[in-house]
Amino acid sequence: MRKVGALLAAGVLAGGLVALQDQADALENGVARTPPMGWNSWNTFGCNINETLIKQMADAIVGSGLRDLGYRYVVVDDCWFDPARDSAGNLRGNPSRFPSGMKALGDYLHAKGLKFGIYQVPVDKTCAQYFGGYPGATGSQGHEVQDARQFAAWGVDYLKYDWCSPGGTIDDQVRTFAKMRDALAATGRQIVYSINPNSIHAKTGPQRDWGDVANMWRTTEDITNKWDTGQTNGYPMGIQNIVNVTVPLASYARPGAFNDPDMMEVGRGGMTDTEMRSHFALWAVMASPLIAGNDLRSMDPATTAILKNQNLIAVNQDPLGLQARQISNDGTRRVLAKRLANGDVAVALFNQGGGTTTVGTTASAIGLQGGSFTLRDAWTNAVSGSTGAISASVPPHGTVVYRVSGGASPSATPTVTPTATPTVTPTATPTPGGQDGCTATYRLAGDWGSGFQGEVTVRNTGSAPLNGWTVKMTLSGGQTITNLWNGVNTGTGGTVTVGNAPYNGTVAGDGSVTFGFTADGSGSAAPTGMTCTSP
Ligand code: GLA
Repeated sequence: MRKVGALLAAGVLAGGLVALQDQADALENGVARTPPMGWNSWNTFGCNINETLIKQMADAIVGSGLRDLGYRYVVVDDCWFDPARDSAGNLRGNPSRFPSGMKALGDYLHAKGLKFGIYQVPVDKTCAQYFGGYPGATGSQGHEVQDARQFAAWGVDYLKYDWCSPGGTIDDQVRTFAKMRDALAATGRQIVYSINPNSIHAKTGPQRDWGDVANMWRTTEDITNKWDTGQTNGYPMGIQNIVNVTVPLASYARPGAFNDPDMMEVGRGGMTDTEMRSHFALWAVMASPLIAGNDLRSMDPATTAILKNQNLIAVNQDPLGLQARQISNDGTRRVLAKRLANGDVAVALFNQGGGTTTVGTTASAIGLQGGSFTLRDAWTNAVSGSTGAISASVPPHGTVVYRVSGGASPSATPTVTPTATPTVTPTATPTPGGQDGCTATYRLAGDWGSGFQGEVTVRNTGSAPLNGWTVKMTLSGGQTITNLWNGVNTGTGGTVTVGNAPYNGTVAGDGSVTFGFTADGSGSAAPTGMTCTSP
């Protein structure tokens, strides 16, 4: 509530409350800069978990090589807790399931180079408690601050927070999820905040951009190991059904904030190998968290090959954090394209039909220009050349992914200056600054025909803590910022002023903070007149 009041006041000053709520409130807690990767206990083990199992899974993540490919979060889902809080109201691990305690489990994971995730709910009962599969009512309702502190003390790095109740409006959900967001932030520990607003609730996950509240938010009801359950957004969801809900939400994805189409079913049977590969490929291009849900102790070679596909992991973990946009969909042939930081584009050619068919697009349709391209098949590693056509024969429910490189740089709307060559590789542009103890440097993180992403790092050049910095800059083409995170934007187009947000707090002496933004138009030229001032 405190935070909302502060933002409202700032909004009136800025004269743009709507824009402010969209931009200033973005959660920026330094984690999940790319989609989190890891493993979660629920899909295979449900309520049947204990510390031995979790440790075995941790050992398997390391032994299989998955950790070193990025799978780091080990998330202990529902049913880990004692059904009663202690006399001081603290949560505890279930003493027969986790006899060493939750801190010891966290220590075990950390010692293996892994991260510790845990499940809890914002309401009174966890989902297993709601459905009667587990006793008690130990939800965080009314205990948010206490529980956040407990999690931080245990070394928790990731909280899965599941609204498992039919009650509450979407506004109630936003307010309640924000309580835990703020309680986690107040602990000072960096904790990935993963929410689910959809469990036995009206499906509010796809109804808004939850990036102001959480690092990742479920878009659908629970996944199951089937291709298509016929559900639009109801229990349980198949792969095709989840893709249908999540593709249109692409614009919400950005570093620190991702659509979550749920934990993976790869390696859990119920689908063909083609479908399993398609599932993984689609999650990869959708910039979805890659949270495995299979028994990692007994993976067959096909499962291992899918989870360890480094081409797709690289596409998923690309630093731009963009989710693939839909290029076309005729009901059978669906084409998605994800821009990557080095200027390449990953193209998914997805066959939703029941027979083999050719799925195709063109380099220009995915935002590339020029006449000579290289296509690398993410599954086979085969490399082929193209003058613009991009197509493949795709089996039913299959997805071919090409990483397309070459051609001219993705360009902005044609300009009258034939010599201008947009920069697509990240470049550091030192800028003027330094007044009153801070400097600002700009980096172009990505540039695509109709927009770009910029990042500004504000450095405190003094030794005293800095709070209240302001960066002024003029976007050289008069572009408009369409999304901004980790700062408060009080400008409209062209000349903008960005100040620090209440939640990114004080920058320590010689420390820095980075804010990012996306803007329309080309960003090939750095902003001009950039200055940083402190109060
Ligand atoms: C809900 C969630 C699942 C899982 C269970 C645990 O159904 O959506 O992912 O966490 O609760 O009970």
